[in-house]
Amino acid sequence: MHRHHRDHAHDDSLEALREALTAGFWDERYAGSDRVWSGRPNQRLTEQVADLSPGTALDVACGEGGDAIWLAKQGWKVTAVDVSQVALARVADHAEDEGVADRLRLGFYDALDDPRPAGRHTFDLVTVSFLHVPVEDFDEIYRGIGAAVGPGGRLLVTAHHPHDVATGARHDHGPGLLFEPDRVLAALGADRPGSAWEVEVADTPERVQQTADGPLEVRDTVVRLRRTA
Ligand SMILES: C[S@@+](CC[C@H](N)C(=O)[O-])C[C@H]1O[C@@H](n2cnc3c(N)ncnc32)[C@H](O)[C@@H]1O
Repeated sequence: MHRHHRDHAHDDSLEALREALTAGFWDERYAGSDRVWSGRPNQRLTEQVADLSPGTALDVACGEGGDAIWLAKQGWKVTAVDVSQVALARVADHAEDEGVADRLRLGFYDALDDPRPAGRHTFDLVTVSFLHVPVEDFDEIYRGIGAAVGPGGRLLVTAHHPHDVATGARHDHGPGLLFEPDRVLAALGADRPGSAWEVEVADTPERVQQTADGPLEVRDTVVRLRRTA
């Protein structure tokens, strides 16, 4: 991505944040462990999809595919994309094991490089869970993701809420990486009258996460938009 930079110190920290969004970083992370995430779908996805009829879905930054495979099992025709080929290979294996390989397509997507996650294809549901990107890149990346939503379709964004840094529940991986619902609405213009989006959910619900040190209360950012035009 090409940006005008303010100063060298800013350049360095931005480059460091972007380094954590590269294939090299994530391939190494996934290759280093048999299973990085739980394999279960994210609670916010299952809650938000419960009232939708299955159609086509795109899972952006799908990781090991807990959400994508769950969606396929619910009858959705799923495309799942990620920057890590190691993660994508793992999703392919899990999909075979779960008997949903015929309802799941996989693709490479680099949020820092590709303007849209699935070329010109559009979907009834586009879901993105825990893709935290530098503030400088946020609008462009999330607009590109929003562009993959077809007419009448939904965009579901789930993220860690910045409150988790304040409570110590989560390490701060960089300034502004975690975000509130407003950031998504502003990036897509959904906070403006006459926008192409209806805001169905813009919420910051809490949940209890089980950790090695016991249960921990954490907060999510959950945004669900419907494309009206
Ligand atoms: C915190 S994980 C979340 C994975 C999955 N959505 C989930 O909820 O289990 C973030 C994911 O974003 C992917 N990612 C990181 N940088 C990316 C980029 N530049 N383009 C696309 N995906 C990226 C990583 O490979 C990783 O799978």
